[in-house]
Amino acid sequence: MNNRQKVEAMELDFTGKSVVVTGAGSGIGRAIAIGFARKGASVLASDINEANLLLLQQELALEQIKVEIKACNVSVQQEVADLFNSSFLDRGVDVLVHSAGLTYFKKFTETSADEYRTLIETNLSGTYYCLQETVSKMKQHQIAGSIIVISSINAHRPLPGQAVYTSTKAAIESLCQSLAVEVAPLQIRVNCLAPGAVNTNLSKVAMTEESKLSAGRNIPYGRIGEPEDMVGTALFLASSLSEYMTGASLIIDGGLILKR
Ligand SMILES: NC(=O)c1ccc[n+]([C@@H]2O[C@H](COP(=O)([O-])OP(=O)(O)OC[C@H]3O[C@@H](n4cnc5c(N)ncnc54)[C@H](O)[C@@H]3O)[C@@H](O)[C@H]2O)c1
Repeated sequence: MNNRQKVEAMELDFTGKSVVVTGAGSGIGRAIAIGFARKGASVLASDINEANLLLLQQELALEQIKVEIKACNVSVQQEVADLFNSSFLDRGVDVLVHSAGLTYFKKFTETSADEYRTLIETNLSGTYYCLQETVSKMKQHQIAGSIIVISSINAHRPLPGQAVYTSTKAAIESLCQSLAVEVAPLQIRVNCLAPGAVNTNLSKVAMTEESKLSAGRNIPYGRIGEPEDMVGTALFLASSLSEYMTGASLIIDGGLILKR
């Protein structure tokens, strides 16, 4: 079968695949967890917010879809280790989507040392813990898996009021590139999905309904993104359609980065 025939024959079916999604309680992680579950994957959905995980589980149950949930604060190494030691992952991890993250919309000089540390510990250390556990699990079970980290358009361009957040996302992208090189001989792939402006709890803090509309007008595609706009790219990065892609960062932003 040549590549074109492969693509035509490809059905995105993740039956039998174990997929871990962090930050699955809300926004982009939630939409991606639902996307994988609807494509047959065995999903372990995790978040610091257990109540939101229960809501996700209930919503999918209405479609007769089961999803495993486990609360975990990604900035605490032991909690991440416990997450990956879950018996649900006894056969290993095929896909990680690491979406847990946060930001503060504050000028650099007004960002406190505590806020700085929280951003570093959640966004950067959390990524380190989750990726280390995932790679160990993939190695242990000899799985040619796919790791997808939700970074940000901010890793590719500066934004006022986001200096520390932006630096964590740039560091995450660098970490992913180095790791991609290191694990490529094991056929483990590591890619980033870098969203632009997406309508989630994270962006709601900085955007009123009116500012969302005006932000949308500044985006070539004419609107800000919805979490569901990220799902297709995540499925693609997890599937064999992207088999030869590693160390990449896909900016999914409706063309926002092209505007100055
Ligand atoms: N919304 C945007 O415009 C946008 C743009 C670029 C990148 N991103 C990135 O997308 C990812 C998802 O964010 P979102 O927009 O869906 O926001 P969101 O707030 O809707 O979702 C983030 C989730 O992460 C969870 N979380 C936060 N800290 C955690 C921790 N310590 N441990 C475990 N879970 C934790 C939250 O409880 C929440 O459910 C983040 O990494 C964010 O940086 C978002």
